[in-house]
Amino acid sequence: MANRKIVLASNNTGKVKEFNALLSPLAIEVIPQSLLGISSCEEPFPSFVENAITKARHASKLSGLPALADDSGICVDALGGLPGVLSARFALSDQKRAPTDADNNALLLKKLEGVSQRSAHFTCTLVYLESADDPEPLIAVGKWMGEILLSPQGQSGFGYDPLFFVPELGKTAAELSPEEKNSLSHRGQALRLLQQALENKFSTPC
Ligand code: IMP
Repeated sequence: MANRKIVLASNNTGKVKEFNALLSPLAIEVIPQSLLGISSCEEPFPSFVENAITKARHASKLSGLPALADDSGICVDALGGLPGVLSARFALSDQKRAPTDADNNALLLKKLEGVSQRSAHFTCTLVYLESADDPEPLIAVGKWMGEILLSPQGQSGFGYDPLFFVPELGKTAAELSPEEKNSLSHRGQALRLLQQALENKFSTPC
């Protein structure tokens, strides 16, 4: 069967690999948008789903291909859901340069000083659009519940992983192997849901 080509609205090589591994059994080939000369678009919206749809629509419009996009972050209950969609750039206003993971983690700990209610979750929204004006996007959401520690713990992963404690495991996300993390994480959950939704879509005649 000929491969169905889909543009991925991300250039993150880790994500390209993850998507290709899950979608190649469906004869889907995921192509990062940079390979098609498409640059990233703005993500100005207050919700993950709006940003993911915007990114997918941008990539589909410029490539003429179906598109996949994701948007993810960490939401802390005591902060009303912040950092949320600002997760990657949470410490931006405190810095002249783009904030590092360490900057963002330090700001999160500062905001939670003296706060005992430290529940939080990672969330990931994936969007698939058949075309830029597809009226029925496929949307898959994964959530991973945990708590924010008082100080970082663990060396693996990225972003907020060293602060994200998973009570059932007694470990942070930064103390898990990539395989363990994928089996539990917001991104792993959303990817598996999307894989099912795509399987259904492609096996059901319209
Ligand atoms: P993006 O959706 O990949 O751009 O992720 C947005 C930001 O959310 C990242 O830069 C991280 O700060 C945070 N984030 C998303 N997923 C994770 C994760 O699995 N671990 C740690 N941080 C994450």
